Amino acid sequence: MMEGALSRRAFACHLGTALGAALVVPSFVQSLTAVPPPAPRQRVGPGDGVIRLDSNENPYGPSPKALEAMTRSQRVAARYPDSLEERMREALAKLHGVEPDNVLLGCGSSEILRMADMAFLGSGKNVVVAEPTFEAVLAYARVTRAQRVKVALTADFRHDLDRMAAACNEATGLVYVCNPNNPTGTIVTRDELVAFLGRVPQSTIILVDEAYHHFVEDPCYASAFEWLGQVPNLVLARTFSKVYGMAGMRLGYAVGTKENIRAMREHVLSNNANAAVLEAGLASLADPGHIPQQRKLNNDTRHWLCSELERDARRYIPSEANFVMIDVGGDVKPVIEQFHRRRILVGRKFPSLGNWLRVSIGTRRETQAFLAALREIVPTRAKVASGRAA
Ligand SMILES: Cc1ncc(COP(=O)(O)O)c(C=O)c1O
Repeated sequence: MMEGALSRRAFACHLGTALGAALVVPSFVQSLTAVPPPAPRQRVGPGDGVIRLDSNENPYGPSPKALEAMTRSQRVAARYPDSLEERMREALAKLHGVEPDNVLLGCGSSEILRMADMAFLGSGKNVVVAEPTFEAVLAYARVTRAQRVKVALTADFRHDLDRMAAACNEATGLVYVCNPNNPTGTIVTRDELVAFLGRVPQSTIILVDEAYHHFVEDPCYASAFEWLGQVPNLVLARTFSKVYGMAGMRLGYAVGTKENIRAMREHVLSNNANAAVLEAGLASLADPGHIPQQRKLNNDTRHWLCSELERDARRYIPSEANFVMIDVGGDVKPVIEQFHRRRILVGRKFPSLGNWLRVSIGTRRETQAFLAALREIVPTRAKVASGRAA
């Protein structure tokens, strides 16, 4: 399987074949990898009865205020969105206690990861990442011809920051820390992060991706924003795709020193954030109730799912995000295909965790449907034993 955010899209191509005419996944943007474009397929979308638990989206969508703002954006649709961009950078700067020049907008945080690779990698450089983690940084690194250094997770599926710091040398342009990590949902603790920030050479950019920050409950976690003013080689990435429910609208951002943000901006597509998403993003930031509400909806359902998994005596990785990894006891690929035949999309295979299924947290009803299907597709040992006895 190809790597990348990208790979989610490439994966969609493979999936189309697996599903035949029965079901077609959304037409993701064509991959930048060497995967050929998908053959034309039947399109599916809202109301098609498909349960989408494959991309860690927020099933409840944007805040009502953001939806209103998108409608209002008709008024500005005819104009280039420069002043909205400015307002968004100002709003984000205020949120994080920095200046607008410390903020860079992206077409999703995917573009932020790409710009970081373009700015800080290249031939003769290397990038250090955990394995497995969100693959976009690696996929874009390949374009820059940088060498890719993967450091296995610890036995409890967490970043091995000691080994990642040790792997950084004078040729390391970027070290990527995904906190919480996709696909495991595990966190880097505050103490681990502090030690790591002190150990990585100043010549290496530390890119901390906090796409799932808002879902974290573990008190040992801390956002790397705490150290932004003290660690000049630190760059943070955040997104409006997860807790804000706007994955389809495409908005993310980076915060870092003016110098690093300037270096990344060299690679930006001008006006990469459209007027509608900027209006919606500004309205989301001004809606204080949205984040706590979405966090509670997600986390209540995640806790419920995990308690059911425990009841079934299944092995899963305790998660702080909006997805959970479940051990299916064998190759996950046929399991994924069986879910698809039932019109439930689940996460792709992560080769280094080939027996594990990643499921995104949906609504309670969607998550119940997932669990019922899981119980049929991968019966628990207890169930298999009782079935045999009968
Ligand atoms: C850790 C992580 N970072 C970044 C992204 C990219 O998200 P987006 O481009 O929608 O902001 C994702 C998407 O799933 C992700 O899991």
